[in-house]
Amino acid sequence: MTRRLGVTLCLILSCVLGISAVGYTQVSKTVQLLPAQMEGGKPLMQALKERATTRAFSPEKLPDQLLSNLLWAAFGVNRSDGRRTAPSASNWQEVDIYVMAANGVFVYEAKAHSLTPVASEDLRALAGTQAFAKEAPVTLFFVADYARMGKATQEQKDFLAPADTGYISQNVYLFCASEGLATGVRASIDRPALVKALKLRPDQKIILAQSVGYPKK
Ligand SMILES: Cc1cc2nc3c(=O)[nH]c(=O)nc-3n(C[C@H](O)[C@H](O)[C@H](O)COP(=O)(O)O)c2cc1C
Repeated sequence: MTRRLGVTLCLILSCVLGISAVGYTQVSKTVQLLPAQMEGGKPLMQALKERATTRAFSPEKLPDQLLSNLLWAAFGVNRSDGRRTAPSASNWQEVDIYVMAANGVFVYEAKAHSLTPVASEDLRALAGTQAFAKEAPVTLFFVADYARMGKATQEQKDFLAPADTGYISQNVYLFCASEGLATGVRASIDRPALVKALKLRPDQKIILAQSVGYPKK
């Protein structure tokens, strides 16, 4: 009871102060995401019917609960053995999701369902080379860590990492269709600038970016 009261007070305080997972206040510590809600949403066939690429976003921020659900749907842990909502070759789970928002860039930690900050500035100017990308409240970057891909050859890594990314991107598409959100995957990104901004190692490869937000009215 006391713990529940504490959590409620934290939530109220967060709302009052504008502190949220990916909102406007700069965050320097790991952010625990709200537990993902796994019920609800549109039936799969309807989500498939509505899946589409959108290139016009409202700047409106995504609520924390929606962000939590989005990341879990994208590549969260869905089984007790640590396996995820998207498949990966040899279960390498080599794709990390970097979340770029107004208050910085974060890496999604699926096991803990949390966000680890990697930058505290608004870097959305780097969200994409097309103007609409900068307007989205959130852009996800799918980054494959080749160091996690076992004994695969370079050639195998180069086709398996994009294949694994495709499943995650489609999860995002279907989640967005289910929730009435706008989304669009993109290859057109400034990779050298992003490597620097996201502080990536040479064996971390940016595969694709995908912006998410409310549709522009
Ligand atoms: C691997 C990949 C890369 C893409 N890159 C871009 C991009 O850089 N910019 C863009 O506006 N759309 C990009 N798209 C979106 C496609 O243009 C879009 O999926 C296609 O026009 C079909 O539209 P739909 O997704 O609404 O069916 C990309 C899609 C894929 C699968």
